[in-house]
Amino acid sequence: MDLIILGIESSCDDTSAAIIKNDTILSNVIAGQAVHEAYGGVVPELASRAHQQNIIPVVHKALKDAGVTAGDVAAVAFTRGPGLMGSLLVGTSFAKGFALARNLPLIEVNHLQAHVLAHFIQEPGGRHDVPQFPFLCLLVSGGNSQIVMVHDHLEMEIIGETIDDAAGEAFDKCAKVMGLPYPGGPLVDKLAREGNPEAFTFAKPRIPDLNYSFSGLKTSFLYFLRDRIKEEPGFIENNKEDLCASLQSTIVDILMEKLVAAARQTGIKEITLAGGVSANSGLRAAIETGKERYGWNTYIPKFAYTTDNAAMIAITGYYKFLKKEFSGQEVAPMARMKL
Ligand code: KG4
Repeated sequence: MDLIILGIESSCDDTSAAIIKNDTILSNVIAGQAVHEAYGGVVPELASRAHQQNIIPVVHKALKDAGVTAGDVAAVAFTRGPGLMGSLLVGTSFAKGFALARNLPLIEVNHLQAHVLAHFIQEPGGRHDVPQFPFLCLLVSGGNSQIVMVHDHLEMEIIGETIDDAAGEAFDKCAKVMGLPYPGGPLVDKLAREGNPEAFTFAKPRIPDLNYSFSGLKTSFLYFLRDRIKEEPGFIENNKEDLCASLQSTIVDILMEKLVAAARQTGIKEITLAGGVSANSGLRAAIETGKERYGWNTYIPKFAYTTDNAAMIAITGYYKFLKKEFSGQEVAPMARMKL
């Protein structure tokens, strides 16, 4: 029998609802929040208020786009964490209310696990290849940088992670120093295409094991600019493209060095990318070179499933439903949650 699941995501500043039929996505609606642009970052209180305004219209649209009714839904999956507490509360409360009103099972989802499972979302009208277990996933977003060993849909192990900033944060914070608007990652990527990645050199961290660190790069970038601006006040404006290209290539090199080491140590050649930073063209190109150089099979989810979205929550809900992993009405959101 077909299983129709409603997925709800509200961990940060995107309100999203999706409908999945087994592992095939029928709709994925995302409402962003422009209100944060003026502040150079997400303002938690404004985010939760915007979620409250968005959640019902977004769910309505997800049902309509999928061509189903609330009566067709067999379970509700929602992001329990990690994320902003006020934001999570809106999605969690909505999911609990919907499940209670319709007497449906409730499925809590770990947002990080969902980013990894985005690889398994299928589209109507044609199935695509999915990674084979065990595989490695480089999970890089605004809040996380981790190398995850994935043994099964619901069995994952972190084998390396950042000890300070996330890769997305490094992009965004360095972009801010250059005067670019938030979130700077996509803009750095765009400008980098016109620049020389070898124009400038920035310090790379020396961190043991498979762990990452990005806070040193941010400081090195800041001091470098400060010194250059003293000599040439228009330095940033005159070198924006080269600065972006050099910064991006440094971040990508840092990410790839540990990913290559992880693949070598584990002997795993199924390599995947997940999270918002996997949209980065430099990182995508670097992963592709791994195909020829190391004989990897590589997988990158469709762009819409790499940033925050409810489709990935719905697919995780599907796998949890199959294992009957349900939550009670007493479930509460968690701002911090491990994979
Ligand atoms: O997964 P995600 O949507 O949500 C959070 O973790 O908040 O990731 C957002 C992050 C931001 O830091 C953003 O700058 C970064 O992903 N990002 C990019 C690109 N697109 C998004 N960073 C570099 N290049 C991109 N093309």
